[in-house]
Order: sequence, then C-alpha cells, then structure tokens
Amino acid sequence: MELTWFKKGTIYQIYPRSFNDNDNDGIGDLRGIIEKLDYIKSLHIDIIWLSPIFSSPNDDNGYDISDYCSIMPEFGTMNDFDELLKETHRRGMRLILDLVANHCSDEHMWFEEAKKSIHSPYRDYFHWRKPSSDGGPPNNWKSFFGGSAWELDKASGEYYLHLFTRKQPDLNWENPKVREEIYDAMRFWLDKGVDGFRMDVIPLISKPAGYPDAQDIGFRKIIENVYANGPKVHEYLNEMNEKVISRYDAFSLAEGVGINETNVGLYVNEDRKELDMLYHFDILECTIVNGKFEEVSQFDLVQMKKIFKKWRDAIHGTGWIANAMGNHDFARMVSRFGDDKKYHEESAKMLFTMLSTQNGTLNIYQGDEIGMTNITLQSINEVRDVQSLNFFEENKITKKYSEALALEMINNEGRDNARTPVQWSNEINGGFSTNEPWLKVNPNYKNINVERQNNDPNSILNFYRNLLKIRKEYDVFVYGNFEEIEFSNPNLYIYKKTLDEQSIVVILNFNNQEELFTTEDDIEGAKVLINTYSNLKMEDSRKVFLKPYQGVILDLK
Ligand code: GLC
Repeated sequence: MELTWFKKGTIYQIYPRSFNDNDNDGIGDLRGIIEKLDYIKSLHIDIIWLSPIFSSPNDDNGYDISDYCSIMPEFGTMNDFDELLKETHRRGMRLILDLVANHCSDEHMWFEEAKKSIHSPYRDYFHWRKPSSDGGPPNNWKSFFGGSAWELDKASGEYYLHLFTRKQPDLNWENPKVREEIYDAMRFWLDKGVDGFRMDVIPLISKPAGYPDAQDIGFRKIIENVYANGPKVHEYLNEMNEKVISRYDAFSLAEGVGINETNVGLYVNEDRKELDMLYHFDILECTIVNGKFEEVSQFDLVQMKKIFKKWRDAIHGTGWIANAMGNHDFARMVSRFGDDKKYHEESAKMLFTMLSTQNGTLNIYQGDEIGMTNITLQSINEVRDVQSLNFFEENKITKKYSEALALEMINNEGRDNARTPVQWSNEINGGFSTNEPWLKVNPNYKNINVERQNNDPNSILNFYRNLLKIRKEYDVFVYGNFEEIEFSNPNLYIYKKTLDEQSIVVILNFNNQEELFTTEDDIEGAKVLINTYSNLKMEDSRKVFLKPYQGVILDLK
C-alpha cells in the first residue's frame, strides 16, 4: 500500500463556533483559530479539519449551507480565511474543509428558486414527490433528527425529502447539474489551496429507486440498508474523484455513516479510486443500540476490541480508515469510555494511548487533548442542539419519558456535550470569550483548561504532545502488524505491533482497580516509551502490575 502524508498524519478537528472567539461576540471565529495555530502546531498536528464555515442560517450549526463559496459572517471574511489557510501552511500543517453535499439549506438560492415553481430549472435539484394516496408523506422514512423525512410544500402540494431537519433539503445527485455545482464549489476551495475535504454523510447521496418504504428493522439498519449505500453512490464518488480530488494534492475523509465491514472496501480500497479514507460509527456508537436517545448498553471492552479487529481485517492491505473516539456529534470521549471523575487524568491518557496506536489515521477532536468532559445542562433552555431539542419536543407529545429523564438523556448523549466552548484558561468563560457564549461553558473550566495544563509537565495536554511526537518517529504505531494478546480479557487490552525493525507492546488497563498481567515476552530490557503513570510496577521480568487505567507502551527492541 502507498504510504501517503495523510495516512500517518494526525487530524485535529475544530468546531469553529466553539473554538476561540476573537471578536468577543460569544461565537468562535476564524481569527480566533488563527490566534491558536501555534497551539495546534505545538500538539504535533498535521491536518486541521474545520467543521463548516460557509454561509448558513445555522439550523444545524453550519451543516445547512446557503452558499458554498462564502464565509459565514459570524466567523469572519474571505480575507480571514485566506490568512488562516496561509498561516496554517506556513506552519507546515494542512487544512481540510467540511463538504456538506448530501443536502443544503432551504435558504440556499437553489431551494428558494426550486420552491417558486415546479417548472423552475432548480426544481430537479431536490427530491420532490406527490403525497401518498391518503395525502400523507410519500413513504415512511424518518428523519435522523425526528419526525418524517418529508415536508409538504403547500404551494405545489408536493413533498420534498430531508433526511435531517426540514431546513436541510436533500440534493438530487441524479441530476448532473447538481453534481457539477458541488464539484465547482470543491474546485473553488481547492484552487485556493485547501488540502481536501471531510465529507459529511456522503454515503447517503444516492437514494434507492422509487423511494421504497423502510421495513421496521431499527433505525441503524434502516440507515445501512435504505438511506446509505444507494445504487449509484460508487458511480458518483468515482466521478468526484476523477473530476476533482485526483486533480489536486488533496484527500478525502468520509463520514462513514451506514457503512459496515462488508462494504467498506467498495469505498476506500485504493484501486477503486473513490475515497481516501473514512471513519466508521462502530466505536462511536458502541454503547448506542439503535439510535440516539433510545436504548443504551454498558461499555464492553471485549466488544470494542472486536470492533477494532473487524475493521482492521476488513481493510487490511487494501484500503484505509481513520480512527476517532469523539467528535462534534457525540458525548465526550473521557466521559463515555473512561472515568471523568476520580480517574479523569489517568483514563484520558490511557484512552488516547489506545486510540493513537490503532492502525489508521488518527483523529483528535478539539478539547479532548485536555480531557474536556460532558456538561450537565440544568434546563432545556440551555440546550442548543437541534437534534436534542427535536427529541425533547417529540417526547412532549409521545410522553415516552418524563421531562426530567429526557433532559438526563440529553445530558448523557446529546451533541452539546462536545460543543461547549474550549476551556483555554480559568478566566471568565474559560477564556473563550468575554461575552456570554452561545452555549454554556462547562463550569469545570477552573480546573480543566489549557493554560493550567500547559504549565504542568504531567498534564493530559503534555501527555498528548509527548505521545504525538513519538508517534511521528514510530511508523509501527500507524502501520504495524497487530497481534492481540488475551483477547477475551474484559479489563485489559494488550497488543503487540511489529513493523520491520520496530516492535512495541501496548498494555492498557480499562479497570478502576489494579490488574496483574503476565507477558509472554521477557520485557526486562524493554524501553518504556509511554507510561500514563510516573512508574511501572513489575514483580519480575514478565509480571506487570497495572494501576487503575494505566496505559503503557513498551519498545521491545
Ligand atoms: C453529519 C454531521 C452532523 C450533521 C449531519 C447533517 O452527521 O457530522 O453534525 O448534523 O451530518 O449534516
């Protein structure tokens, strides 16, 4: 397989609204990002991924674009963007943008024109259907954010499709003009010098012919079998690659919604020339049984090992994936998979040790490098995310849960957890803004903040820095052959990785108790590359005692 810059690179995702507010209006902005580029560089980041920065009415915080080639005024100007790109490149980092091409905003000119008349040349940019025989929506599809996926346009008596909110009409990729519009927008940014795109819900762009009803197989399966992986998705991705991406030194990172280990190769195998890599949902959703705000399961380490293995096997030697344990759509990684109270620091470090030693491109989400945690919002008035708000409203009608329980579910699973402003210091609003932020700052910013961790050599932040620096020297972290040890152990995750001359063992304790591990290898002379504690307790050259949430990487050579 080809070893390209983006495979070994570490991606840092910025959610601009919550990153850093330079003009003090309570909303993060591009100049705020420029201010922090040295900080990002200090983490040994290679690629910055910006969540959408384009004009948008912000029904879904920028994932509803009203103009693909302009900057959202709240975030700044095109000059600010040009400077951000230049300054990123000057520091030896790359910049990728978020391409939201499955849908646009209902305030995009295309949709406004399309609505005016069924004869508009823009009508066919979207999916319009006549009502079903009872006058209701054309089929039973549900939106990802609750309710029907169809909205009636009263003027024409037709419904349009929106897999997300009703302000996010799906684009009709069957129409070659739509595809050309999207490719033109991509070229506009690539010509400026951006280095690629993260592709939002890209597996959804081709809809099944005839829009058949979905069988009642659970939302997750419906996504896989009905909404995603449509009949022409590969034709479109191939075309996009051929006409756009391959013409530049750029790469694509897809959001792999609805993709599983059986079809991932069709998207990312190198010879197919579609996508460079994708991140799947199996780890991110491993405690979510069917969909958000439904049944949740206990975190299970063996299940997680199986997921990592399954995906490793699926793409072995032929394609590539990225690994993430958090992003702007999920609750915070340390709160979900670690312990955000007693063992906050220990578990944050251990989880990152695991994530950064999985084969694949490493994705870090802003704030995880200081172990930012979930927030407890006190009332629904503090909730900002449209997905959570829709759930709360729908629940008022169905009365499935009490209001208190619905809020608790939002606090556990909601996307606002990941979107609270980055905690830069112990100053007002965590140093994010002097004005009231658009979403509450987590009150724990007094203890958990960048400034404090910067000055502490043992902080989570400096642990990330150290590990990322070492990762650059050890290709084995990224490409090594992976050998599981004690696969069925429910508390310990242990693996050996080898590549040419390099050989490491990763030992991770997921338990909040001490654990004993006996190795096959004599590790007497091994070098401790990474240790989340200040010492490593050994009884003899084969017996390792692990403290709660301790993580270690040993260099066997
Ligand atoms: C993706 C984004 C999410 C957004 C949705 C609709 O899943 O990550 O934030 O709401 O697509 O664009």
